[in-house]
Amino acid sequence: MISPARNPRPSWLSNAVFYEIYPQSFADSNGDGIGDIPGITAKLDYIKDLGCNAIWLNPCFESPFKDAGYDVSDYKKVAARYGTNEDLVALFEAAHQRGMHVLLDLVPGHTSEEHDWFRHSSEAERNAYSDRYIWTDSWIAGGDGLPFVGGESPRDGTYILNFFKCQPALNYGFAHPTRSWQQPALGPEAKATCDAMVDVMRFWLSLGADGFRVDMADSLVKKDDDGKPYTIRTWQYMFAQIRPEFPKAAFVSEWGRPNESMAAGFDMDFYLDWRWDGIPNGYNMLLRNTNDPLSREGDASYFNADSGTKISDFLSEYEPRLREAEAYGGSFNFITCNHDTARVAPRLSPREIALAYCTLFSLPGVPFLYYGDEIGMRYRQLHTKEGGYVRTGSRTPMQWGDGSSDGLTGGEYLPIDTAADAPTVAAQQADEGSLWHIVRDMLHVKGDNAALQTDASFREIERKRVFAFARSTDAQQVIVAVNPSRDCKALQLPKGNYREIFKIGEIELDGTSLQLGLQSFAILEAE
Ligand code: NOJ
Repeated sequence: MISPARNPRPSWLSNAVFYEIYPQSFADSNGDGIGDIPGITAKLDYIKDLGCNAIWLNPCFESPFKDAGYDVSDYKKVAARYGTNEDLVALFEAAHQRGMHVLLDLVPGHTSEEHDWFRHSSEAERNAYSDRYIWTDSWIAGGDGLPFVGGESPRDGTYILNFFKCQPALNYGFAHPTRSWQQPALGPEAKATCDAMVDVMRFWLSLGADGFRVDMADSLVKKDDDGKPYTIRTWQYMFAQIRPEFPKAAFVSEWGRPNESMAAGFDMDFYLDWRWDGIPNGYNMLLRNTNDPLSREGDASYFNADSGTKISDFLSEYEPRLREAEAYGGSFNFITCNHDTARVAPRLSPREIALAYCTLFSLPGVPFLYYGDEIGMRYRQLHTKEGGYVRTGSRTPMQWGDGSSDGLTGGEYLPIDTAADAPTVAAQQADEGSLWHIVRDMLHVKGDNAALQTDASFREIERKRVFAFARSTDAQQVIVAVNPSRDCKALQLPKGNYREIFKIGEIELDGTSLQLGLQSFAILEAE
């Protein structure tokens, strides 16, 4: 039995709304065709005005970029193409001046094969890094079922991979070692890796970072059992060191199972776009219940006006996970998209996207808005770049449309969407009815109403084609209702007096009877 890790969650998360920035593609300050950190700093006012008060920055560290920076070759150095460590510190300071927070991306499960630790680990002679990665004991040995590489090093052994071939797995040990080369989780070698990772966290937190999004946080201990007990204890070991030093730092895991990630000590977990073997999870059912990111045909997503899908299947999967996160005082977070996930445009229309995002922003937890989603940037079919493969189409340059990052339009990183109907920030800011305005208005309403924020309670009211739920704090109660269909729907509200505080489409409120026009959304405050 694992004793749950309990931390008072940093209070700034209770009204946090994140903006995820893929640094390559966001804003280019020096015209070299690749986004950079000074470019991001120059856009902080834009992000804040949109209603986001926090940033998750994808990896920005030195790397050969075979996996877009998730192959780190120096954890403590900003990649030259993004700027310098001083630029990153300046970003932290500029964010803090605006009351904003910045999470970096920590990749603890693997490094690049070009990291110095790995170079030393590959040497024939034993040294301080020999056990930093997982090595078998012979050049010809297999990986005991784990992916491995041989024939590349002076060392007489093969090494285990965590993801791509360029990403050797750091050694956090095995849950139940069965071969002589497998070391135990939380043994001295595994703890040395943990201590090295704590040192990386301390480095950036001391310089002003506000925490980390943690890559593949569940991947550390190999052959860990169902429930990941040894990986959980490994995180508890690391958090026991870093939390007391930086009590306001926030940690969000790429894990997807809050009962495990919260026990490990994370503040938040993501409800991710995971559709293993074609079977959608709850999050997919909302937005991405399809095999084809570009076509509406066969798309059973709830927010597709034509799908006829009811919200009940989503709720059956979502609610138990929400309650698990709540039991630990943590949160289970929705993303509009991320750098690994297909953007929902053009498959969903701007109205469908508006309904979807406003619903996600109204649900419990801390929402993450992926750059460009506020204007409905489109998924595009592109050749792979830096290990992106199918993900590349969601990583294209931000469409500012005002010449503010002309370098990006040079198409050196990825081609910008130059189609005549490509959405841009400038055009949507000038159009009162645009998605950009809806997202901004919604996020400001969220910021102004405690019952729409992270921890307000959640209770479902209607789980059919119409989805309605109540969210409450001691001081406020709101009801949120969405009708994604092309028909008008009627909804009977619980007893009370209501007033409308936000809407999309046609809404009619008469006492406790709410008429929801086609493709409409309403937030009502109980008086
Ligand atoms: C998850 C990251 O989000 C993804 O982009 C990356 O390729 C893998 N982890 C490996 O680090």
